[in-house]
Amino acid sequence: MSPAAASKMAPGRIAWVARSCRLLSETAAEFERTQPFAGLTIGASIHLEPKTAALMRTLQCGGAIVVATGNLNTTQPDTVAYLRAHGIDVRGEQTTDPDRHAGYLDEVVAVRPDLLLDNGGDLFARYAADPWPQLLGGTEETTSGRMRLMPLREAIGKPVLVINDSPIKQFAENRHGVGQSVLESFYRFTNRTTNGRHVTVIGYGACGQGVAACFRNAFSVVSVVDVDPVATLEAQLDGFLTPTREDALRSAAVVITVTGAEGVLGVADLPLLKDDVVLANAGHVPWEIAVDAIEASVDVVRTQESGDGITTWYLAEGRIAHLLGRGHMVNLAGAQPLGNSIESMDLGFTLQVRCLEAIARGDIGVEACVVPVPPEIDAEVATAYLELTRIG
Ligand SMILES: NC(=O)c1ccc[n+]([C@@H]2O[C@H](COP(=O)([O-])OP(=O)(O)OC[C@H]3O[C@@H](n4cnc5c(N)ncnc54)[C@H](O)[C@@H]3O)[C@@H](O)[C@H]2O)c1
Repeated sequence: MSPAAASKMAPGRIAWVARSCRLLSETAAEFERTQPFAGLTIGASIHLEPKTAALMRTLQCGGAIVVATGNLNTTQPDTVAYLRAHGIDVRGEQTTDPDRHAGYLDEVVAVRPDLLLDNGGDLFARYAADPWPQLLGGTEETTSGRMRLMPLREAIGKPVLVINDSPIKQFAENRHGVGQSVLESFYRFTNRTTNGRHVTVIGYGACGQGVAACFRNAFSVVSVVDVDPVATLEAQLDGFLTPTREDALRSAAVVITVTGAEGVLGVADLPLLKDDVVLANAGHVPWEIAVDAIEASVDVVRTQESGDGITTWYLAEGRIAHLLGRGHMVNLAGAQPLGNSIESMDLGFTLQVRCLEAIARGDIGVEACVVPVPPEIDAEVATAYLELTRIG
């Protein structure tokens, strides 16, 4: 049964997501006929939440036996209950304990899957340490997983396709998805407008480009700061202001970091900040804004928590500054963290299932170990999405 058909019986949010994953639903309907994973076991480790539930069900429609566990901390109990009720073998539960989580990963690997769907390299790293002969290969979702698995290529020696390196993932999720969800989260946290206000975006990679564009489209005046002059030039030619870092901080009503680097905004910047400025981070690490150092500094005379994710720092000289979500990724923090749009994830997950299908079919050779998604799969997924969404 396709995710869309199954959604009729699923609890609210899972049903909404399944219904909105139009590309996955269409692919699942095809897989019900073609059965690309008949007789194969897929071992998965990925955040278990409503969007990945649609991914798991699509693999199941293709005939796969799916054995899955979540990533550290992010497993949602409702999703686990739903998946188990539909025959997905979920190992473990939500935990912040790395040792317990490691045990769940070991359980997935212990079934010796034919294919792996990895998110961060945990499953393939285990395979490299203790290989089993029937593994056909698999997929890795993230950049951090790619970096972890590159040195293990020889030990893995199987096709591993890295979803993050697909141009579709880069522009659909990292640019448009993150841009939209950061803007949405800013609104949800603050209930303030940014129309006509100065927003400074620090970092102009794929994510920063999306954040800058979304705030501009929401009628803000956007400045971009990047340590790379080439990225800064691109921002300028894209029509953004590119003042010096100091000027960009002095006049900003909102500052958003999205670089992946540590301590991008720190104690030394406090004297520059305008009164009532709102600070947020969308990069991966929660110390892009040096929250601990700032709170320990003499410049902060008092810290106040709003109770709903806004921290206010009372600075010397009477100014105040606010931090959203304690500096964690702002689009995944707060009272209702929805993350990136369903459509952007639908595209990324369709890349996942098409890559697994190609590996199951034997179309990808062992030389394709930790490499980007093949261009023909990108083209297939793009064409399917365009056909599904064409206007007129
Ligand atoms: N919030 C989310 O949902 C989400 C989703 C995907 C990725 N991310 C994370 O967002 C971050 C950015 O991702 P990306 O794909 O845009 O990365 P990227 O590497 O393409 O771009 C990062 C940019 O930041 C710049 N930069 C680095 N250090 C800087 C500094 N100190 N000051 C100013 N600029 C600096 C770099 O020159 C580069 O242009 C990463 O941490 C990534 O993991 C977040």
